[in-house]
Amino acid sequence: MEVKLADVSVVYTRAGEPPRKALNKISFSLKTGEAVALLGPIGSGKSTLLQVIAGLRPPTSGQISVRGQDGPIVLSIQEPHRGFFAATVREEVAFGPENLDLDPAETAARVEWALTAVELPRDKWTVSPLQLSGGEQRRVALASVLAMKPRFLLLDEPTIGLDGPGEEALRRILARIRTETAISYLIASHDPDFLYALTNRVLVLVDGELRADTTWGDWAQQAARVAPDLKLPFLLGLLHRLAAAGAPVNTAPATPAAAWNELSRLCRERVKEGIG
Ligand SMILES: Nc1ncnc2c1ncn2[C@@H]1O[C@H](COP(=O)(O)OP(=O)(O)OP(=O)(O)O)[C@@H](O)[C@H]1O
Ligand SMILES: [Mg+2]
Repeated sequence: MEVKLADVSVVYTRAGEPPRKALNKISFSLKTGEAVALLGPIGSGKSTLLQVIAGLRPPTSGQISVRGQDGPIVLSIQEPHRGFFAATVREEVAFGPENLDLDPAETAARVEWALTAVELPRDKWTVSPLQLSGGEQRRVALASVLAMKPRFLLLDEPTIGLDGPGEEALRRILARIRTETAISYLIASHDPDFLYALTNRVLVLVDGELRADTTWGDWAQQAARVAPDLKLPFLLGLLHRLAAAGAPVNTAPATPAAAWNELSRLCRERVKEGIG
């Protein structure tokens, strides 16, 4: 499956205000199996882009095409719990698959899988979603979209409002789901460390324009020039500072694991040289 955007622009018009271009001629494609980070300063057009890809907002100009559709594209937003309506968590999560006209056994299996995947304790499955904590409600919302078996899951600021352990758990859940299913992610977030751990491609929006479509390693080389206000993932920033101080390090590791390896290699070499 491939989602292709060609020269997509979105212009917002509000009465009494000049039109505002939120997206300006965006072109790229997303393929099954990719995990993509969407970076950009506040107001750069990330949420607008996700809405366009999800089919929730028509572009003002340009085309969006989907080839080989074999599963839905689903957007999960920041405060999904506002939309809860079912009497129990199970029924809430079953709603999506039921609307896809699946047979009841398949729906039940998907609900079971999705609620297990998001690590919601089984005793919470039969209560009202409104009786759960904020973090639990977000897991129910994630389970609801997972139960539809999306090919592309678009996530808008999934870590907002989560504490450290909550964020770590979400990272673990999303990483595991990706190894268990053929799902692809496009995740907009202001948290570069969360994104570095989960994605292997980076899209960068600045003022509604696509300024980079690249890997993490390459983004680390360009970031200071293209978007100096955006934070790098901690490990990439650290390697850059070490390189600037003269340390012989690779500043472009593709994953956090590769970045840790680079740091430990440097430490071992320093110890060998008798400096450590
Ligand atoms: N419904 C709307 N009507 C008018 N203007 C809008 C609307 N939604 C967004 N905008 C404007 O479009 C631009 C892009 O907004 P968008 O929400 O896509 O940015 P964002 O990158 O998601 O920002 P953030 O990081 O704050 O979530 C902003 O300037 C915003 O003010
Ligand atoms: Mg946004």
